[in-house]
Amino acid sequence: MVRNTSHAVMQQRHEAHDSLDYFPTPPWATRALCEWLLQYDMLGCMTALEPACGAGDMSLPLKEYFLQVESSDINPLDFGYQRDFLFGDAPPTDWTITNPPFRLAEQFVAQGLRCSKHGVAMLVRTSFLEGASRYRGLFEPHPPTDILQFVERVPMFKGRLDPKGSTATSYCWVVWQKYNQTGTRFHWLSPCRKKLERAGDYDR
Ligand SMILES: C[S@@+](CC[C@H](N)C(=O)[O-])C[C@H]1O[C@@H](n2cnc3c(N)ncnc32)[C@H](O)[C@@H]1O
Repeated sequence: MVRNTSHAVMQQRHEAHDSLDYFPTPPWATRALCEWLLQYDMLGCMTALEPACGAGDMSLPLKEYFLQVESSDINPLDFGYQRDFLFGDAPPTDWTITNPPFRLAEQFVAQGLRCSKHGVAMLVRTSFLEGASRYRGLFEPHPPTDILQFVERVPMFKGRLDPKGSTATSYCWVVWQKYNQTGTRFHWLSPCRKKLERAGDYDR
């Protein structure tokens, strides 16, 4: 058997069961979602909740588009405030948007759908779309309205942003729009990293 032990493949996310799964999101990947959402919603008049904000790498680009962004995390890293998103009621918002801890992603979607007026968007590994039990528990009862598949790789690493890093893991945004439900649509997110990266994105 030939094993693929390339650096990129080795960057896949294998996390301990109780890990908080802190993998910050390169800001351009969040801008890609917001640019896409602008065709449906006037984000500048809306509120967003980032309920697993870590150090704020997703919250900051969200603030470029939304009127107000509330940020929290079970273990905030000098950003936002402390809250377990899955414990008790979440605050009402127009949109819930995050890169959730992988093993809790289904619960994050369910809680997001409860507290969001307009919709939920989750950045997940594309492999999240597979799996019979996830299909039965999440996608069948709550079909997403849109899958936004990145054509480019979105390099994510445990505990740090790395503008030079590479990855073999494929990511997509999964979106549940509450006012535009006509089955699940598939979209490519065409190459946009260069256009959506900003000076200072990796400086914090
Ligand atoms: C993949 S990281 C994403 C960080 C940030 N959203 C970003 O994209 O840069 C997942 C985050 O979920 C947080 N987290 C894990 N369990 C949580 C919970 N029950 N409630 C709130 N946050 C949680 C972790 O502390 C971690 O910061």
